[in-house]
Amino acid sequence: MGIQKVMVIGAGQMGSGIAQVCAQAGYDVKLNDMKQEFFERGLGVMTKNLTRDVEKGRKTEDEKAAILGRISMSLDLQDASDVDIIIEAAVENMEVKQSIFKQIDQIAPAHAILATNTSSLPITEIAAVTNRPEQVIGMHFMNPVPVMKLVEIIRGLATSDEVYKAVEDMTVKLSKTPVEVNDFPGFISNRILLPMINEAIYALYEGVASKEAIDDVMKLGMNHPMGPLTLADFIGLDTCLSIMEILHEGLGDSKYRPCPLLRKYVAAGWLGKKSGRGFYVYE
Ligand code: CAA
Ligand code: NAD
Repeated sequence: MGIQKVMVIGAGQMGSGIAQVCAQAGYDVKLNDMKQEFFERGLGVMTKNLTRDVEKGRKTEDEKAAILGRISMSLDLQDASDVDIIIEAAVENMEVKQSIFKQIDQIAPAHAILATNTSSLPITEIAAVTNRPEQVIGMHFMNPVPVMKLVEIIRGLATSDEVYKAVEDMTVKLSKTPVEVNDFPGFISNRILLPMINEAIYALYEGVASKEAIDDVMKLGMNHPMGPLTLADFIGLDTCLSIMEILHEGLGDSKYRPCPLLRKYVAAGWLGKKSGRGFYVYE
């Protein structure tokens, strides 16, 4: 199964990172979003990352131009008609993802793989709205994509071995390390990470310590590169809340109850770094 042409759906922080690493590995990439300004925002982030690579001597200007030249804008899912794989990285919402998968199943060539970068939603349920569940798979990149080595690969109930192998090979070609995980809410990464973040938010909510103190304890005491509240802002508080809701609903245990303070921040539009304010304020 030769993969050459890639479509990435969603040009946000994850989709733009995925598009960048695919183009760096030599794939032609169509980066789809709903509005030109969203594509341009993603292109701006990729350009900034690549400019830093040039400044640090890791890439030449020619390589930067070639990578950006492999990325084209798409504002219409019909552009999926000639690609070999689609990696969906739109918002963490089952209705949105199922609607996208229903459409791309009709448009993409019969051989195309339909992958999702979902953080926590069941792959099997997304696959069930398509006529090719054996070609649907989870390909879970970590944020920031250009830096983090891991890709969790999640099989749905019907995912074929051939499709698993093709995605595993592609992950290696992207210079990432694939890890196979079964289809359970939050997979491994977010089943472990998000309850820690949620607990940190409870500690803040209950007045156990200030936000800075909570982050310092985990950074200086546990050697985490970012404190949990800074990391929550970095991931996006809307995404954190969605993941906690999926863990709570999918695993049915009250230990996964999203902290009310997290709900309040999301309701206020304080989504973290991407909206300029979360637990911290960003310029
Ligand atoms: N995009 C691309 N490159 C980036 C970047 C970004 N957003 N942020 C940092 N980098 C690069 C920088 O270029 C830098 O490389 P060079 O110095 O070689 O140029 C390198 O990363 C280190 O950056 P900094 O020195 O600026 O800062 P740092 O040492 O604090 O590292 C970090 C930044 C890599 C993000 C680090 O803080 C970190 O690892 N944080 C934790 C990230 C994490 O846990 N990610 C997982 C989130 S959960 C998830 O993704 C799953 C989910 O479903 C929610
Ligand atoms: P984001 O809010 O930065 O970006 C989402 C993008 O998708 C936006 O540009 C939005 O306009 C676009 N979009 C929404 N609906 C669309 C549609 N129907 N068609 C095309 N584009 C659409 O979000 P993000 O942080 O990039 O997260 C994207 C996905 O990746 C989510 O499923 C999330 O759970 C997952 N994820 C996030 C992280 C993280 O740390 N933020 C890590 C791994 C996986």
